[in-house]
Amino acid sequence: MSRGNASGEVLKTPMEICWQFDYAIGIEKLRTLYTKAKRAQWDADQRVDWELEVDPSKPIVDEESFGFDRIPFMQTLSQRQREAFTANVAAHRLSQFLHGEQGALMTASALTHAVPDYEGKLYAATQTMDEARHVEAYDKYIHKLAIVYPISPWLKEVIDTTLQADHWVKIAIGMNMVVEGLALAAFHNTRKQTTCDLLRELTSLVLRDESRHVAFGNLYTRETIQDMHEDDREDIAQFAFDVVKMMAEATGGVDGRGRRKPDPGFVKMLETVGIDPGDFIKSVIEAGQAGIKMERPPGQIHSFKDLMMPALVRVGAVTDRTRALFKEEGIPVWDDLTVLESMEDVDTGDIDFDQMS
Ligand SMILES: [Fe+2]
Ligand SMILES: [Fe+2]
Repeated sequence: MSRGNASGEVLKTPMEICWQFDYAIGIEKLRTLYTKAKRAQWDADQRVDWELEVDPSKPIVDEESFGFDRIPFMQTLSQRQREAFTANVAAHRLSQFLHGEQGALMTASALTHAVPDYEGKLYAATQTMDEARHVEAYDKYIHKLAIVYPISPWLKEVIDTTLQADHWVKIAIGMNMVVEGLALAAFHNTRKQTTCDLLRELTSLVLRDESRHVAFGNLYTRETIQDMHEDDREDIAQFAFDVVKMMAEATGGVDGRGRRKPDPGFVKMLETVGIDPGDFIKSVIEAGQAGIKMERPPGQIHSFKDLMMPALVRVGAVTDRTRALFKEEGIPVWDDLTVLESMEDVDTGDIDFDQMS
């Protein structure tokens, strides 16, 4: 029964949850990851210097990747309007981080329920706490800029599909590989490009936690998928394909340059700063026709190519059958692990606790 909170929303899930009375550790690498996670906990109140000044008029997120600054229309705005636009575009972007973190908080707690192994439950509990902290910290930061904007419908669709999956491996695929693939790239690019010291500090701390979350997805699902009956493996692979396709369609294709699904939150953001959404969209189309390129600045991480697809291939969530489906959709099955491995906490052997502050 719903508590009837008007701003909340209730979903039903078909997930089976699992007790585990065997407390012996069977998967040593997961225990190590759990131990690391316990020792790397941080308190957002104490660890982040919230006194650092935030100047909302400066580019706060990777605006360049959108290329807004290159649209002639922006030059027609007053200085005040441009500053308001910059602050609100950042708040809109970071609002997606915030809502995505709440999604991660719920999927991590769902994993705690559903995974069959004791050490898997312990680890997932630490990820749950990590995600709670990320929600808290991003919420606090956004309120320094502007207001919290609603979740983009496409992001919600991907997270809802993941939350309503019937097997924990699907949750790990939907969140720890696909949504967190998108998030890791966005966090990395934001940390690199932001002019805001507070956001850089905060995002660095978040990224350190996320590196464990990606490692968990790999460590724990790979063997499970390998040991599955072929039919179950195909079911998992189909889920991975469906979620990636959903993400690609929503974000304008794997290169991000196609047509994006409309986002009412973004329209609301334009209205908030006094920009006519029709004029804005028209100017973006005209800029595109005039050959003004909104290219990704060099050195940025590509979420599909560098993170999502290699993670799925590595755990065996892409089969020969779904390879053909990806091809039909025009989504290359990238499998170069270089960037992914450089960003995850792969060292689950010896723990150098001195390195952990
Ligand atoms: Fe997170
Ligand atoms: Fe995470």
